[in-house]
Amino acid sequence: MRRVTLSQFLVARQRDKVINADLRLLIETIARACKAISTRVNKGALADGHGGLDTSNVHGEVQKKLDVLSNEILLEANEWGGNLAALVSEEMENPQPIPTHYPRGEYLLLFDPLDGSSNIDVNISVGTIFSVLRCPKNADGSYCDANEQAFLQPGRHQVAAGFAVYGPTTVFVLTVGDGVFGFTLDRETFTFVQTHPEIRIPADTQEFAINCSNARRWEAPVKRYIDECLQGKDGPRGKDFNMRWVASMVADVFRVLSRGGIFMYPRDAKNKDGRLRLMYEANPMAFIIEQAGGEATDGRTRILDLEPHGLHQRCAVILGSKNEVDRVTSYHQ
Ligand code: F6P
Repeated sequence: MRRVTLSQFLVARQRDKVINADLRLLIETIARACKAISTRVNKGALADGHGGLDTSNVHGEVQKKLDVLSNEILLEANEWGGNLAALVSEEMENPQPIPTHYPRGEYLLLFDPLDGSSNIDVNISVGTIFSVLRCPKNADGSYCDANEQAFLQPGRHQVAAGFAVYGPTTVFVLTVGDGVFGFTLDRETFTFVQTHPEIRIPADTQEFAINCSNARRWEAPVKRYIDECLQGKDGPRGKDFNMRWVASMVADVFRVLSRGGIFMYPRDAKNKDGRLRLMYEANPMAFIIEQAGGEATDGRTRILDLEPHGLHQRCAVILGSKNEVDRVTSYHQ
């Protein structure tokens, strides 16, 4: 079978007018930065200063050195390409406009540079998540200031989203709105090669992912759903369920894309708004999941329809196989 690299895939998409040259170059740049992060993650404890406690990020959470480094790799890779108006990440309180000595482009980039970072020291998969929006325009056709307000668009406006998983292999998953495609990093040629064309999530599943240590704090609909799964063949579902929880959203979502499943980080008595970030975790993952035939809600509303009010706002997330997400969502009504 002929190998299709990510670059070839993107050129074909540009020829078919699904994306323009700027978006192609932006995605290529992000993928290049992910390769650099992958190399660094793979060095593990052999790299200087690996894993040690460093500073706090804007949410007061402990940041590890690799989070900071991954953020810098993505910032440096993206600021000079001329495709972006501004960018923001989990590690930055405010958006960073593109420096004036570089050309300014039409896109806004949001990212979580190293998702699941509590797993770095224990050699479990981590990853990078990104979302691309268009910078809004003024009435006269000029671009708006690329400030926080420009970023506060519902997820359905995303023009591209993707994530990389740094696991036993490095995988790059992408949607530009016409399906979901996965690419594996070939370490000999250092190129991403398409290995997962047209990913589709089965509508039914017998596998759920949730952090059960929060069970006592869940709302009634989530309790009911998990209770029914746990009763297996003897309960109302009439079938046994399996459970997985990697505690890296990228790895859990990649599993859902690969063989179906439902992933949940619901709101609970402690995380009243949920735990995951809407703009650079839930929205890109929801776009990808829907493009693969799955669904993503916060229990009540489609994630892609949530109106954001802050760059770092949290939300509940229930995503994956359509029939299971429908069921949990219906329990909320
Ligand atoms: O972004 C946060 C994150 O690390 C996700 O990747 C993951 O799904 C979740 O948090 C893990 O949460 P917990 O520590 O509660 O298992």
